[in-house]
Amino acid sequence: MGNIFSDRISDVPRSFIREILKLTADESIISFAGGLPNRDLFPLDEIKKAANKVLDTAGRDVLQYSTSEGYWKLRKWIAERYESKGIIVAPENILITSGSQQGFDLLGKTLLNEGDKIIIEEPAYLGAIQTFSIYRSKFFPIPLTMNGIDTDILKKITTEENIKLFYCVPNFQNPGGISYSINNRNIIASLLKNKDTLIIEDNPYGELRFLGEEKPSFYQLIPENTVLLGSFSKIVAPSFRIGWIVAKPEIMEKLIIAKQASDLHTNYFGQRIIFQYLNDNNIDEHISKIRQAYGKQRDVMIDAIRENFPEEVQYTQPEGGMFLWVTLPEGLSAMEVFQQAIEKKVAFVPGDPFYVNKKDVPTMRLNFSSVDEDTIRIGIKRLGEVLKSMLS
Ligand SMILES: Cc1ncc(COP(=O)(O)O)c(C=O)c1O
Repeated sequence: MGNIFSDRISDVPRSFIREILKLTADESIISFAGGLPNRDLFPLDEIKKAANKVLDTAGRDVLQYSTSEGYWKLRKWIAERYESKGIIVAPENILITSGSQQGFDLLGKTLLNEGDKIIIEEPAYLGAIQTFSIYRSKFFPIPLTMNGIDTDILKKITTEENIKLFYCVPNFQNPGGISYSINNRNIIASLLKNKDTLIIEDNPYGELRFLGEEKPSFYQLIPENTVLLGSFSKIVAPSFRIGWIVAKPEIMEKLIIAKQASDLHTNYFGQRIIFQYLNDNNIDEHISKIRQAYGKQRDVMIDAIRENFPEEVQYTQPEGGMFLWVTLPEGLSAMEVFQQAIEKKVAFVPGDPFYVNKKDVPTMRLNFSSVDEDTIRIGIKRLGEVLKSMLS
């Protein structure tokens, strides 16, 4: 048989992180590579009670097909949560998806033709790069600074090119760990205000803030131009694969067609359990526990970096989320650091997969949410030894 594969799939590589995670399955390796929430914080007992209650009260109905838009009460809960934060969203404008990852796919199906131009952050979340690549879009990466994206470059690109989408993670970015300042958000909003560019504002970490003040969402600043993505993965549990898209009615109408074509609807039983859990428990208390734990883990990692990394190494100091981004001195290959680090039984993700057109970039992503504090200290010390020996 000849080449049976579509051009669409042939051009897209496998997720590099999934490949790395295979390497780190060895339990003796301390891994800062994953992007996993801390399993010790999953609300196991509460979920068990919620699942039983759903089965006891709704019985066979929860095993039936359901609506493509998602469980109405869950959509209403999400709208009310936004309202409590000053963001006005009608439940009708919320589509429940199989994680925000499916949100990218539905948006790709709905909005992207081959060759359409997308601005992404550099470095960018590789799950989004992978999905948008399948739709054969043309990427325009804009470097991240400590305060957001470089708005001079944004101005230049949006003046010269017809940009369809701008995909961004303004809060506690994955992988950069940075957040856009209010000023950066305002400039971006004013640059895109009367343009046809749609902002895809991906906010899976927004609730996980342990420092600083909440910043306005693009959905508040320019709602007409913004599609907002959210997820329960980081505040309840990722295995449910439940997230959502907030979009204006004309986009929603097409997204529902794409959703039906993809999977009819998101797992209904899962939606009911999540709703029951949210209804019967205090989610703010739960989120506060996660914030405290991650904030502490982040502090421990930063202290250990200060103590153990060579001075030339730079790193971000996230105000929330799960990742910290390290920039090595020019000329030091993060891939080579990775090879040596694995020998010392410590792993991270080298920067390359977060870029669309660069190789051997001297950057690396460290995850602090899924490793306990003592292990963070040991792992960072080992990594410091590798870096010192490579720099000497
Ligand atoms: C920035 C970003 N967007 C989206 C996702 C996918 O999340 P979900 O589990 O909701 O599909 C992740 C997962 O790590 C992420 O980091």
